Amino acid sequence: MNVRRIDTTPFPGQRPGTSGLRKRVAQFRQPHYLENFVQAVFDTAPALRGGTLVLGGDGRYHNRDAVQTILRLAASNGVNRVIVGKGGILSTPAASCVIRGWAAQGGIILSASHNPGGPDADFGVKYNLDSGGPAPAAATEAIYRCTQEISRYFTVDAADVDLEEIGIVTLGAMTIEVIDPVADYAALMESLFDFNRIAEAFRSGALSVCFDGMNAVTGPYAREILERRLGACNGSVIRGEPLEDFGGAHPDPNLVHAPELVTLMQQPDAPTLGAASDGDGDRNMILGRGAYVTPSDSLAVLAENAHLIPGYAQGLAGVARSMPTSRAVDRVARALEIPCYETPTGWKYFGNLLDAGHITLCGEESFGTGSNHIREKDGLWAVLMWLNILAVRKTTVGDVLSHHWQVYGRTYYTRHDYEGIATNAAEALMQTLRDRLKHLAGENLDQLAVETADDFHYVDPVDGSVADRQGIRICFEGGGRVIYRLSGTGTSGATLRVYVEGHESDPLRHDLDPQRVLADYISAANHLAQITKFTGRVAPDVIT
Ligand code: G1P
Ligand code: ZN
Repeated sequence: MNVRRIDTTPFPGQRPGTSGLRKRVAQFRQPHYLENFVQAVFDTAPALRGGTLVLGGDGRYHNRDAVQTILRLAASNGVNRVIVGKGGILSTPAASCVIRGWAAQGGIILSASHNPGGPDADFGVKYNLDSGGPAPAAATEAIYRCTQEISRYFTVDAADVDLEEIGIVTLGAMTIEVIDPVADYAALMESLFDFNRIAEAFRSGALSVCFDGMNAVTGPYAREILERRLGACNGSVIRGEPLEDFGGAHPDPNLVHAPELVTLMQQPDAPTLGAASDGDGDRNMILGRGAYVTPSDSLAVLAENAHLIPGYAQGLAGVARSMPTSRAVDRVARALEIPCYETPTGWKYFGNLLDAGHITLCGEESFGTGSNHIREKDGLWAVLMWLNILAVRKTTVGDVLSHHWQVYGRTYYTRHDYEGIATNAAEALMQTLRDRLKHLAGENLDQLAVETADDFHYVDPVDGSVADRQGIRICFEGGGRVIYRLSGTGTSGATLRVYVEGHESDPLRHDLDPQRVLADYISAANHLAQITKFTGRVAPDVIT
């Protein structure tokens, strides 16, 4: 088979964001676009030559074509073996699990996560290292630089490889191992959780679940694990058929995008646990009967209860949360006398802490939680954590939460997103805030006393690498906090995220609506950043 060298020229702005390169499908379908990026991965990751690469994606539109393109580039760049999920499918956590389990040198994951899919929607490609985790900033920067200088890539003329049968096929000298996308992941879950106990709770009727696969990649994983292996009744998984366009829906597990699940969980006869995962299976939303668990609270509750689960029975080395995630888990860590790390937004910052054994659990406010079992956040894993906790404690989600609040107090939390605003307006807003920062401490904002104000600067405790300008952080006396940052994953214009939290230590004074409880902080946040003046918006597009 002849390797062909194709002349090419750079595309401006092929810079991977917090979760890889994410663009519209049309952009990815331009001749040489995907090829340039993937060649840059091979050029900057020499270990792949002669090594093993894992390849798979969330099944969205363009997944199939992209997998074939990447296989051709892999064969001509000297990759020895590619492990690919049947049909080109691997959820993000499964890909991380397979990279580790097969001792691969790296993995290419095709996904735009929770962004919509289809010909007019989004696609993405991301490179993960041999640890199974997303490439750190230095590696993505090297890939980016390479895309901006690239002049050629290598491919072969070959027909599409049949990926529909499990087994071994070849492409030139390269071996392609087509695997069941679910098997390795399901086995890993079985090694962490008390499947017998959860199954017994399902059988006795003490536990029931509704899992919303959002027409995305997790449906087959959830059916195998929840229905087949754990015996949850048939139909426990809804929207479980993966579709290329996610049925036109937005595969983002939150209160807005999982309406069927949310309505079901408000019924008096709702299942014990309601859950949803996103396009590529790494995010999760947890609901109880009449109860919603904020992702920040979920992380705190998992840390509090992890010792009840076989895989974590020895206790936790430490925990980490992204900076905008609420500080609920900090209080649990203090009680457990374990360290709690604060990292910039994006899963990749947890990797070093996990590899070094500094932490066991970590999470983000954006519906992501995970542990040292892989190097990605993991939606179904979080669902199994909750199911295992409920099976052991023989109680409801609502009770687990109230108990947590009684012990640690309650953190109210909300995130306001302003989407698709002009990039220069967003940057001007952030710069104006930055300019004011040094004068803010000690000042009053709408009667609220500012304690500290800074632009989050992270020094990685393991390798000393620095990430600065990671978000403007304003802490108020009394435990309130407001954070501003621009999204690194949007595909058009800029998205401003404003994160607001407040802490209430008296469990009897609980009002349920965070927008009401946090109203003073929200209005101070809007005034301080002059959001309407800069963006022309009078209200956020999405509130979570
Ligand atoms: C968002 C989330 C972040 C998450 C990332 C990838 O990034 O906020 O926590 O790691 O998606 O799922 P953002 O758009 O805010 O940069
Ligand atoms: Zn995702």
